[in-house]
Amino acid sequence: MKEKVRIMTIFGTRPEAIKMAPVVVELFKHPDKIKPIVAVTAQHREMLDQVLNLFHIKPDYDLNVMSEGQTLFDITSRVISGLDEVLTDAEPNMVLVHGDTTTTFAGALAAYYHKISVGHVEAGLRTGNKFSPYPEEMNRKLTAALTDLHFSPTTTARENLLREGVNSENIFVTGNTVIDALHETVKCSFKFSDELLENIDYTNKKIILVTTHRRENLGEPMRQVYKALKKLIQDFQDVEIVFPVHKNPKVRNVVNEELGGLPQVHLIDPLDYEPFANLMNKVTLILTDSGGVQEEAPSLGKPVLVLRDTTERPEAVAAGTVKLVGTKMADVYKEAKILLTNPREYSRMAEACNPYGDGLASKRIVQALLKFYKFSNQEPDLFIPS
Ligand code: UD1
Ligand code: UDP
Repeated sequence: MKEKVRIMTIFGTRPEAIKMAPVVVELFKHPDKIKPIVAVTAQHREMLDQVLNLFHIKPDYDLNVMSEGQTLFDITSRVISGLDEVLTDAEPNMVLVHGDTTTTFAGALAAYYHKISVGHVEAGLRTGNKFSPYPEEMNRKLTAALTDLHFSPTTTARENLLREGVNSENIFVTGNTVIDALHETVKCSFKFSDELLENIDYTNKKIILVTTHRRENLGEPMRQVYKALKKLIQDFQDVEIVFPVHKNPKVRNVVNEELGGLPQVHLIDPLDYEPFANLMNKVTLILTDSGGVQEEAPSLGKPVLVLRDTTERPEAVAAGTVKLVGTKMADVYKEAKILLTNPREYSRMAEACNPYGDGLASKRIVQALLKFYKFSNQEPDLFIPS
């Protein structure tokens, strides 16, 4: 009998965990062909553990690298040296990394140093600006250079890779695995165990969901956004804001200074993925600088104002459900006001569309791996957006 192929997934932050969890689940469905190995760096600790618990994933290796105020140098060096030992012990045939965090790049580099093949999930996103987002644009470009199999969520991402000279045979357009996770998680009948979230009047109030964390927005840009939110609640008595605040103290301090103690603002800890995804499904409008939220919200028919100047996710902008508004107070206020007061504009942006996936991305990724390791002759079918 053919020997099993040893596939190691490496991830470390909340979004990587949410988007890699469906892949891990799918890898475990082929026990006669694949030996899945899970290594987490824990670049995030609590926010990673929330996701591991939800998807019942027990890592084989945990580097536990997170520290308060960690720098890019800290994370990169701890991940690289930690993974040296892990890869020596586990001897995977292939390492799968996800997206564009420092864990992603350092994971791919560590695999390369061990001459282990690399599969990159969510490959090919680009803004073309190496400092926006920082350091993610460079992380994903450097990871691409180390990658053998590129799993691109969309055809735009595939085209970006082709332009950089990647061989088309090594690119698979799979859809984004975040939509697999979303499909498993959002339920019309969902009830929040948290009383505050359960008691919000989603029908008669206008609820704005906010998240912010991008490094390039820390400090003044975030403060501008929060000032815009403050003005919105002053001007609109029927608006409430739910803001699960990222664990980064550099985010939390400014949020508390600008929005702490205001009656129309609910500042809460980061939510588990299940309540967060279901909250997205109930609110009126989303303001965020998150990448993942930009991909999820269009599937749920929720307008998103993106608090950034660039995006590597142009598909929903083209479809009209997502708008780039930057972080200037006047711009954020103006665009949010339009959606709160102009039903035509709101309906136009609230058209549900699925440019990012159909819930089958992880199946396609595992199909491609089985073909690559000659367990099957079947080419993975490709994702076609609706
Ligand atoms: C990281 C990624 C970013 C990704 C984001 C998702 C890098 C350089 N950045 O940014 O690409 O979009 O995650 O959220 O890879 N903290 C905790 N507990 C946690 C998580 C974070 O206390 O569970 C605090 C720690 O003090 C930590 C700080 O947040 O030092 C920043 O975490 P870090 O991973 O360095 O940066 P993020 O802004 O979270
Ligand atoms: N998310 C979550 N709880 C929260 C906020 C976000 O589970 O309180 C989820 C969200 O649904 C998305 C992911 O976290 O899937 C996005 O993570 P983040 O914004 O931290 O990172 P990015 O996507 O920008 O890299």
